[in-house]
Amino acid sequence: SSKSTLKIEGEDYSTDQWTNTPDTILSHVGRRLYLDENHPLAITRKLIESQFPCPVFGNYSEKNPVVTTRQNFDVLGFPPDHPGRSRTDTYYINDKTVLRTHTSAHQQTYFQQINRNEKVRPEEVGYTVIADVYRRDAIDRSHYPVFHQMEGAMLWKRPDSNPLASSTETAAKIKADVDLIPRHNVTVEDPNPTIHAQRNPLQAEHHSEEEVEAIAEHLKRSLERMVIKVFTEGSKAAAASSDNNIESEPLKVRWVEAYFPFTSPSWELEVFWQGDWLEILGCGVIKQDLLINSDVPNRVGWAFGLGIERIAMLLFNIPDIRLFWSRDERFLSQFRAGEITRFKPFSKHPASYKDVAFWLPPSAVTGGSSAAGGAVPFHENDVMEVVRGIGGDLVEDVTLIDEFTHPKSGRKSMCYRINYRSLERTLTNEETNEMHNKVREKLVGDFGVELR
Ligand code: PHE
Repeated sequence: SSKSTLKIEGEDYSTDQWTNTPDTILSHVGRRLYLDENHPLAITRKLIESQFPCPVFGNYSEKNPVVTTRQNFDVLGFPPDHPGRSRTDTYYINDKTVLRTHTSAHQQTYFQQINRNEKVRPEEVGYTVIADVYRRDAIDRSHYPVFHQMEGAMLWKRPDSNPLASSTETAAKIKADVDLIPRHNVTVEDPNPTIHAQRNPLQAEHHSEEEVEAIAEHLKRSLERMVIKVFTEGSKAAAASSDNNIESEPLKVRWVEAYFPFTSPSWELEVFWQGDWLEILGCGVIKQDLLINSDVPNRVGWAFGLGIERIAMLLFNIPDIRLFWSRDERFLSQFRAGEITRFKPFSKHPASYKDVAFWLPPSAVTGGSSAAGGAVPFHENDVMEVVRGIGGDLVEDVTLIDEFTHPKSGRKSMCYRINYRSLERTLTNEETNEMHNKVREKLVGDFGVELR
């Protein structure tokens, strides 16, 4: 579309060369599913929030997804060439404005708020925040361009403004708080050292090792407890449901090293669930530069972020991520505030598979960024966006089933298989053919591909 402004939450934004956010995406803004108390996303939110209670934590949500590239990337230390910044991955409103790709876009604001509230709410040194986030991505049953994240953080004030001089005292304070966290008896694998010079470095100019050990201990114990609570509730629900005979194995969790531009050291927490290790959250020791830039230079702490849909799909046995957006009573009537119950699928409607095969234009390069000199960039997410724009929630998944380069001409051919299936009704042949023809035409019009 070539509108000169986009209206989002009552505010007008001018568009430019960077704009790539379609109305189908904007139509999701403001739904606030996490506040519908009988919705599985809200029930999951409450369950996690219950592990981060007041007065230490404030539990918040952020309604407006429009943030600056500064908030979403720069402040958090994303380098200029980070792939997350590309137009193939992120929905831009204009060159300076995006739909947030993660709740971390609000970290600075919340750290500033902790400082501002110091006098009125001195015990509130942490927060959780839930929000809708937006990413251009593949189409399948566990990916949707709009989803929800919850972020949490906790800070400790150093007794002295000369940070490293008071680090032993700070570490002792944090360790005392670790002792307040109730124990659990779940097996935790944590084979790596807290600090690793190359893989998981100490911010040596800002933190002492004993401080970071203490912060890491508090972070890990807090998040283990939360995840154990959530998964224990899930197993209880599974055991109570008659249609399901999953043997309840003892819960296993493990810590793995990770990398985020705004934490160091960093980790991911994984849970062993029905035969696979599943990544549940990312976290780490907050970069001190970020805290210095957020009016809390004398505080240290941790932060984590997790996706709500993935957890809710496991807890409630929800097989398709599109269901969260359903207004169908057969879905919505199955859930009650405060209860984890197993979803009973209503009849599954037939799938309709249709393939589209095409030659890329001779100049196209795949996988690259738009920086490639002169060549037309071609990114799979652009195909996904075309399909999503036309098929909306009637597309269950899109997969690349064939790809080859012609040995003589050097031209590249791709074939995608689109599965059209409604969650709510049987689609007619005319309907799917019409959608598919529009997809074919738009691929030609937008990218100059040659249909085969
Ligand atoms: N924002 C990160 C993500 O979306 C998660 C994260 C949050 C990691 C806070 C560390 C600290 O992947």
